[in-house]
Amino acid sequence: MFLRSRSVLWLLAVFALPVHAETFALAPLPYAYDALAPVIGADTMQIHHGRHHQAYVDNLNKAVAAEPGLANRSLEELIGNLAAVPETQRNAVRNNGGGHWNHTFFWASMTAPSASGAPAPELMAAIERDFGSFDAFKTAFNAAGASRFGSGWVWLVADSEGQLKIISTPNQDNPLMDIAPERGTPLLGNDVWEHAYYLNYQNRRPDYLAAWWQVVNWSAVSARFAALKP
Ligand SMILES: [Fe+2]
Repeated sequence: MFLRSRSVLWLLAVFALPVHAETFALAPLPYAYDALAPVIGADTMQIHHGRHHQAYVDNLNKAVAAEPGLANRSLEELIGNLAAVPETQRNAVRNNGGGHWNHTFFWASMTAPSASGAPAPELMAAIERDFGSFDAFKTAFNAAGASRFGSGWVWLVADSEGQLKIISTPNQDNPLMDIAPERGTPLLGNDVWEHAYYLNYQNRRPDYLAAWWQVVNWSAVSARFAALKP
């Protein structure tokens, strides 16, 4: 009995020790690695999620650990107020915090081709109002993605007035960042880094952009749009 009590006390002591848990963690994909095939193959998804996204999470945790004042800030607080991040870690938080947010959003923006669906009627009406037609919207989105020099993202956002816009950002920047020239609430985003498509499309980014619509999760995008209502 004495020994058992001591064991319990020892266990309690161990678990009471300060634990330096990683602040941010990589969530599993919300579907199987091969769920988006043939639009995006399983090998691309495994490397993209397990290596690229994991590296952003790891490097963000290193940046946050290097500045104790950052410990309790959410990811949105960090990237939405980079001006408040000490200069020593600002670029690291910008690149890796952006990378973590963007990829988490990206995975949730896609689904199997059989489940892609279509924009809900209210979202479709807003797309037609602001871009003329659904096809015109997709053409403009693809053009913005194709013309992004180097690496970056293309976004559908809603501005503060509720108007829909297409924005392209370099590297891992996004429209939530205080440093972004144009800000807005992201509804949809596509990753146009080569790591997102090279194994399937090599240098043919326009082909990737055109095929990608087959895996857009319109149910998720429509829910984001519906959540904008006050
Ligand atoms: Fe990526």
